[in-house]
Amino acid sequence: LKAVILIGGPQKGTRFRPLSLDTPKPLFPIAGVPLIQHHIEACAKLEECKEILIIGSYTTAHMAQFVSDMQKEYPIIIRYLQEFTPLGTGGGLYLFRDQIRAGNPSAFFLLNGDVCADFGLKELWTFHNERSDALVTIMGTEATRQQSVHYGCMVCDTVTKAVNHYVEKPNSYVSTLINCGVYVCSLQVFHTMADAFQRKQDGFYSGTNGNSSPHPGYMSWEQDVLAPLAGTKKLYAMQVTSWWSQVKTAGSAIYANRHYLELHRERQAVPAPCHILPDVFLHPTAIVDSTAVIGPNVSIGAGVTIKAGVRIKESIVLNHATINEHALVMYSVVGQDASVGEWSRVEGTPSDPDPNKPFAKMDNTPLFNSDGRLNPSITILGASVVVPAETILLNSIVLPHKHLTRSFKHEIIL
Ligand code: GDD
Repeated sequence: LKAVILIGGPQKGTRFRPLSLDTPKPLFPIAGVPLIQHHIEACAKLEECKEILIIGSYTTAHMAQFVSDMQKEYPIIIRYLQEFTPLGTGGGLYLFRDQIRAGNPSAFFLLNGDVCADFGLKELWTFHNERSDALVTIMGTEATRQQSVHYGCMVCDTVTKAVNHYVEKPNSYVSTLINCGVYVCSLQVFHTMADAFQRKQDGFYSGTNGNSSPHPGYMSWEQDVLAPLAGTKKLYAMQVTSWWSQVKTAGSAIYANRHYLELHRERQAVPAPCHILPDVFLHPTAIVDSTAVIGPNVSIGAGVTIKAGVRIKESIVLNHATINEHALVMYSVVGQDASVGEWSRVEGTPSDPDPNKPFAKMDNTPLFNSDGRLNPSITILGASVVVPAETILLNSIVLPHKHLTRSFKHEIIL
């Protein structure tokens, strides 16, 4: 078995700004480790999985350190393959098909890099194997009618689970069973892709693809491969009820953090230097005053300093930030090297998704309302931002390197 992780490139991740200005989104720390390390860990846990290929259009320089770190941490081959230009969710996969097929693996997992989940890869693999005619099995989950239209929607045979109908982000309601962006694929899928690719090429050069193909090598896995496979009894969906969510907006990082903390409690095993309300990931190099109260659902990065009387909950504090005496941080992301002054409050007010529902539905909140007003429900401080003492920041986004001089509510500070 192999695994492919699609991570897009610097052109994507715009809803993740300003956090993606300093760190590529796939490498943003969630529960103490880069987002896609959670994917790698899920694959590496499967003994049968021998190689992971990460495909994206970030430069190799962006990814080299991460890949080398992962290679040391997990006993599995990990490689990064760079698309020369974004080729869509199917184009890169097709371009690198020989690398995926090399060694003749029995199948490969395909994982969107911007989802977080309790990846049930073993179950998915078993389910796929039980259907000898399956080319692709999709992990699916239940959404509400309203949410569903933002995802790939599937209608399945209730007995065989064959997908009879697939519509990517439909204009109107199709089904509440949505595509989680996690798949297992047989190698024969590349024959289907070859046909799809040919159609795309023909369309591109004859101009009949419209604007949907910015490059002749561009292909949408969902629209050009999955949708035509529906109804052929080669596409199946395995519905899961475990927790799953996308990581699109910076706000959704807070929820992903909450769930990955819960999933990986073993990473929290450091002696508590202060009052901790689990779950909390505290980097061993963080310096924390014993009177601080941290948690629940907080990740604290390397070299962070947390001073006396500080309170932090539902937040991510990135490397080398400083939270000064008696400051409060909640539902916020504090950027690398940022500093929060004494007695200041850095706060968000999200509508909490129901923790008992596996589908976290916080994610489609647009950064701006239709009237152009800012609509974040968390506060984000970019890298090296300085918040002075006795200042309130509520539901605001501060771009990197700003030195604030007053309080802000519902504002974006450029
Ligand atoms: N290598 C590469 N090249 N990766 C890409 C490219 C590209 O040109 N474009 C997108 N990706 C990656 C993204 O980084 C992300 O991890 C994944 O492919 C899907 O990206 P999107 O194109 O943003 O799709 P989406 O997230 O809106 O919808 C997809 O995921 C949903 C589940 O999260 C679809 O598969 C939906 O059907 C699905 O419900």
